[in-house]
Amino acid sequence: MDFKRNIIITGGAGFIGSHVVRLFVNKYPDYHIINLDKLTYAGNLANLKDIEDKPNYTFVKADICDFPKMQELLQQYHVDGIIHLAAESHVDRSIKDPFTFAQTNVMGTLSLLQAAKLYWESLPEKYEGKRFYHISTDEVYGALELTNPEGLPSPFTTKASSAHHHAYGREFFTEDRRYQPHSPYSASKASSDHFVRAFHDTYGMPTIVTNCSNNYGPYQFPEKLIPLFINNIRHRKPLPVYGKGENVRDWLYVEDHARAIDLIFHKGRIADTYNIGGFNEWKNIDIIKVLIKTVDRLLGRKEGEDMDLITYVTDRPGHDKRYAIDSRKLQRELGWEPSLQFEEGIEKTVRWYLDNQEWMDNVTSGDYQKYYDNMYKNR
Ligand SMILES: NC(=O)c1ccc[n+]([C@@H]2O[C@H](COP(=O)([O-])OP(=O)(O)OC[C@H]3O[C@@H](n4cnc5c(N)ncnc54)[C@H](O)[C@@H]3O)[C@@H](O)[C@H]2O)c1
Repeated sequence: MDFKRNIIITGGAGFIGSHVVRLFVNKYPDYHIINLDKLTYAGNLANLKDIEDKPNYTFVKADICDFPKMQELLQQYHVDGIIHLAAESHVDRSIKDPFTFAQTNVMGTLSLLQAAKLYWESLPEKYEGKRFYHISTDEVYGALELTNPEGLPSPFTTKASSAHHHAYGREFFTEDRRYQPHSPYSASKASSDHFVRAFHDTYGMPTIVTNCSNNYGPYQFPEKLIPLFINNIRHRKPLPVYGKGENVRDWLYVEDHARAIDLIFHKGRIADTYNIGGFNEWKNIDIIKVLIKTVDRLLGRKEGEDMDLITYVTDRPGHDKRYAIDSRKLQRELGWEPSLQFEEGIEKTVRWYLDNQEWMDNVTSGDYQKYYDNMYKNR
């Protein structure tokens, strides 16, 4: 079958990638969506069970660092668009093992860029109609000060933040903010962002970079705060909180991020950068209290009875105090808005993890890694 577009989505078996793959496969039956993923510990094909048999979906197990393989796949599938999410993504792991982060996030991105450059430049139309869209994080901008530690009414609001309308400082990250990464993870993402922009400036590759705030929602690997704590509360295990839990993060429902990626992939200006976030700042400790109350309520426990699970542990080294994204450019230029209020999103998310205990058990036991083998062994 001839498709209108052939798009590789890297990291499509991960948390955000699986939502982007699902959105594109369902919304664009005339696009061929190739999910390219190495299936590290963070990749889980069970995240995509509902779409794996669709005719416009193909999964390829490959490592973005494998440059000859990237060249082969681009040619084989006549790829005209790349949405690049594959990365090592957990800050704590980057503190223990920075080399893997430099390898995947920097060298892997470079391998993909160079393969795209060679393939697209070999075509008669060259870069026309092509797009290399790189997904990055707000963490590259470094940390903001907590100048309003108690939180003041925010000058900006979106649907995401309309109930809890706080800003914990005066400054926000805009797209022209200086890069100042602090963790090996954010340093590797910053470096990959620079390479992507360099490929535009040097070779004229049509690139786009977006920097998004913290995502939450279904299918997130339970090493990250929200799924980890939902599971721990359910099983009444301790909730280890770094420092005093005062660090502030800006949270966005993952499907709102996926919708932004769709919009920007199609309508974003080439060589440009867009920040994605909901002006939805929360202190970690306040999120944890919301999670405890929500899990308790949904499990029929007395709301808040599990507050004593909170256990304060030594802070993460170099722990950034506050991230706050200014996403007004994306709202103004492309009309994007978060669709969910944070409280609704958290309720939906908690319900999903409680209703999908089997998914959680497979991930926490490591059984999900057998899913791929079982799925493909008889084909
Ligand atoms: N999670 C967030 O809150 C957040 C916020 C902003 C930006 N981001 C960025 O979005 C992207 C996706 O994040 P996530 O949270 O979904 O990550 P994730 O860790 O859940 O998924 C990463 C995926 O990449 C795959 N992968 C890792 N190394 C690979 C390699 N060498 N080759 C091919 N595939 C490989 C993994 O198997 C996994 O499926 C990352 O680039 C991350 O930096 C994440």
